[in-house]
Formats: sequence, C-alpha cells, structure tokens
Amino acid sequence: MDSYVRIFDTTLRDGEQSPGATMTSAEKLEVARALARLGVDVIEAGFPAASPDDLEAVRRIAVEVGNPADGGRAPIICGLARATRNDIDKAWQAVQPAAHPRIHTFLATSEIHMQYKLRMTREQVVERVREMVSYARSLCEDVEFSPEDAGRSDPEFLYEVLGVAIEAGATTLNIPDTVGYTLPEEFGALIAGIIRHTPGIENCIVSVHCHNDLGLATANTLAGLAAGARQAEVTVNGIGERAGNTALEEVVMALHTRRPVFNLSTGIDTTQITRISKLVSNYTGISVQPNKAIVGANAFAHEAGIHQDGLLKNQLTYEIMRPESVGASQTRLVLGKHSGRHALKMRLASLGYDLGEDELDQVFERFKSLADRKKVITDADLEALISDELYQPRELFSLDGLQVACGTMGMPTATVRLRDPQGRLHVHAAVGTGPVDAAYKAIDAIVQAENVLQEFVVHAVTEGIDALGEVTVRIQGQDSHSTLDAQREVDQPRTFGGYGADTDIVVASAKAYLAALNKLLVATGRYGPAEQVATHMVSA
Ligand code: KIV
Ligand code: ZN
Repeated sequence: MDSYVRIFDTTLRDGEQSPGATMTSAEKLEVARALARLGVDVIEAGFPAASPDDLEAVRRIAVEVGNPADGGRAPIICGLARATRNDIDKAWQAVQPAAHPRIHTFLATSEIHMQYKLRMTREQVVERVREMVSYARSLCEDVEFSPEDAGRSDPEFLYEVLGVAIEAGATTLNIPDTVGYTLPEEFGALIAGIIRHTPGIENCIVSVHCHNDLGLATANTLAGLAAGARQAEVTVNGIGERAGNTALEEVVMALHTRRPVFNLSTGIDTTQITRISKLVSNYTGISVQPNKAIVGANAFAHEAGIHQDGLLKNQLTYEIMRPESVGASQTRLVLGKHSGRHALKMRLASLGYDLGEDELDQVFERFKSLADRKKVITDADLEALISDELYQPRELFSLDGLQVACGTMGMPTATVRLRDPQGRLHVHAAVGTGPVDAAYKAIDAIVQAENVLQEFVVHAVTEGIDALGEVTVRIQGQDSHSTLDAQREVDQPRTFGGYGADTDIVVASAKAYLAALNKLLVATGRYGPAEQVATHMVSA
C-alpha cells in the first residue's frame, strides 16, 4: 500500500456550506489559488447544481486553477453532485475545463436516511448508485462516490453498495461520518472492514470524510488513515456544517509531527498553513478561536514562567512543532518609513503576491501611511494590508470619511461619509452606545440594508500599541434564499462575513461592516453579480 495521503480540500464546498461562510466567486478563486499553492491534491470547488453562480464559480476555478499558466502541477478540480443526472451534468459542465476534473456523487446508505429522507429501499439505493456512478463515469474518468452517513450505515450493506460503485466505475470511495457520530476505534474498524470485504477495492483510493460533532473529526480521520485510507477530506480551520469538518492543518501536522508512527506523507507545503488560515478566516468572517490547534493565535504562545524557562534552555521542552514549520513566525520586516516601492514589491513577491503596477501603487500608498504610524512592519501587517486593500468584495458603498466623538463625557457620536455605487457622497451622523455602534447606525441610515449583527471580533495583527487592528464581522440578512439539501430546496436566511484592517479600530470596524453589507447587497440582487477583485496572487 502506498504511503502518500491525498489531501482533498472541501473548504469551498462543505466549508462554504456552513452558516456565514458565504464567499463571493472572486474570493473562492483566491482561496482555490492559495489551496493550490499549499499543495492540496484535490480541490472540491463547490456544488454546481446549487445555483448558476455556484456552477460558474466552480467553472472559473477549473479554468484558472485547474490549468496553471506556468505549466506547474495542477490539482484535481472536483464538483459535488447528488445522484441525479441533472446534478451530474452540472458538475461535469463546471469541472470539465480542468486538466484533471473529478465528479463526486453521493447517496445516503444509513437506514434512517434511506427510510425518512430518501424514502428508498436498499434495492433502489443500490440500483441508483449503479446507474448514476456509471453515468458519471461515462462523462469523466475520475469519479468519487460517497455513501452518505456511512458512519451509521450497516457495514455489510456498505460493502455491497461500494462494490456496485466500483463495478460502475468509481475510482475513489469516500466514507463520510456525516453526523460526526463515530469514535476513532469504530471508524478505523469500519475502514479496515471496507478494505477487507469490498470486492475490487484494491484498485481504488479509499477516502475519509469526518464531521466534528463530538470533537473527534481529526482523531477519526487519523484512525481511518491508519486503517488504510489514502485520501483525507478536510477544510481549512475545520469550517463546515454544524461543528465543522476535519481541520486540514490538524491532520497534516499530525502526520508530519508523528511521522514515525504513521509512516505517511502528504504533498502539503506546511509553511503556507498560517497564511491560508487567515485568508479563509478573513473571507468568511469566521474567526479562529485563540486556542485552536496549529492556527490559533495562542497555538505557539508560552505564557507560564516554567514553560518560558524550559523553552529558553531547549525548545523541545515544550514545543513539538516549530512555528516556522506552519509559517507562523513573525518575520520582522526591515521595511519601514524609508523603504521604497521596489523593496515593497520584492517583499510582496517573496510572500507570493505578484501585483500589477496600479495595485502596487495602491498598496504602497497604504504601506507608507502605515509606516508613518508604526515603526516595525511585519509580514503579518503586509498580509492584512493586502487583504484590506485588494481582496475586498466589490465596493458598492465605500468609506470616504469617518469621524467619531466618544469618551466618558457626552454621547458617542459618529459622522460617516460614504460613496454610493453611482459615485455620490452621503453624510450621516448618529449616536450609539459606543463609537462602533454609532458608526454602524450612521452606515445603516445611508445603506438601508436590513440585517442583524451576529458577530464582531477585533484583534491586533501584531503586539504593541501601534498595531494594526483587524475586524471581522458577520451579519445575517433579512431575506431567505433557497439552498439545496439532499432532496429538496430549503429556505434559509443568509449570513455574510466582512473584514477590515486599520490602525484605527473604528475605521477597521466600519470597513468590515461595509464589506459584509456589500456582499449582502449583491446577494440580494440589489446590484449585479459579485464580480469584483482582480487576481493578485502568483498563479498556482
Ligand atoms: O458529510 C457528508 O456526508 C458529505 C458528503 C456529501 C460527502 O459532505
Ligand atoms: Zn460533509
């Protein structure tokens, strides 16, 4: 059995499906580029049958990330499809332009799903799998099949269904613990049983896909890999339905750090992990908990005196991984107030940003103004600047000016000046419980897009009183929209994330709120499709 574990990233599909993780198609494209740079083997780019926008976003990723301009290694681009002809046709339409396309189709196999959700008998399920996998295979050479809710399915029935999928042409068999129910020993045994008893499985890749409802997704995934699976389905920061999916960074670093135990390798460039974690968090507005393994702000922070003393004597006393191995070291950049445009360009290039002249001018202007206020600029500051300056949703409403009065005397008041999509300026002043509340009230009075603020998080990019502040917000729109679940359309209100960075946190807060509002306005159809930022990354 080979020792290479394929990393199948589903941040853009299962991850994006989680509440609030909605990304625009330009953001999805940037995440896909970053995933390719990270070295994932498969990018599940979306669920093309969900909507024409989803189909188009997957297609763009297939065209642009699935065919690297420099002729480098192209990841497989995958589209999800329910086991219906219509879904499979749409998935194929979307992934076909990729150098290596994959169709991933699924059908539930647990009694509870078959009886109540699908209202199908075992025989009908087997027949549908045979028919739809062979239809997918007639279109695409690379077909993945998932028996949904495998974790609660009868193993004997699974062997039969998977055997049929293999006969019909499936090349990867993915075993999902859809509801995060299994324990590591059970899940490992399930995978071992499938490998032992499914006819024809030796010619296929067995994959694992775990959810984190009991906090066991990583443990279950590792148990599945130890039992012989050779593909792990994961998301960046573990985002996903309910408690999320298996976190990419946890599985990759567990395999890397405990290599002698697993004897398995991946193609991941681990030094890219921190960057992609931030990118996904900024775009989705889903912040990473400080104590999150590998990518949390405290993951490498040592506070206790005994620990610090030990570390100074020998890093191995309390550190099982080096922060540099996941790209978490704070490189002190020697760029400052006196650095020129060329130095900035070179530094950005070494971080993977290949900016055009106009974009560089834009970032340089921001860099200079930051350097006036802050002596030491780190790579993290630069990344925050880039996210704030270049990777924002289309600016329907943009911040043109903001002034606040606050403190212990008088009422917190904000005056906001916004530019609307037609270029007109609007000014409004409002009073609030604090300066941010006042600014948001003034913005609301101008933009008039009803919403509920669900989350507001401020954090400093680096230490020090002069640090850049980053704000992420999540808002829920008042409209509901249709999404597809396995069988029918369901109405759900949508949540949108926004990000802003500035040394003034009220300004960063206003920018983050506007970014989320702009997404909401596009999604609710008040202003055309969400085509906005150009691409700035070195192509993958
Ligand atoms: O969790 C799940 O079952 C899924 C399948 C579509 C693979 O996401
Ligand atoms: Zn899932």
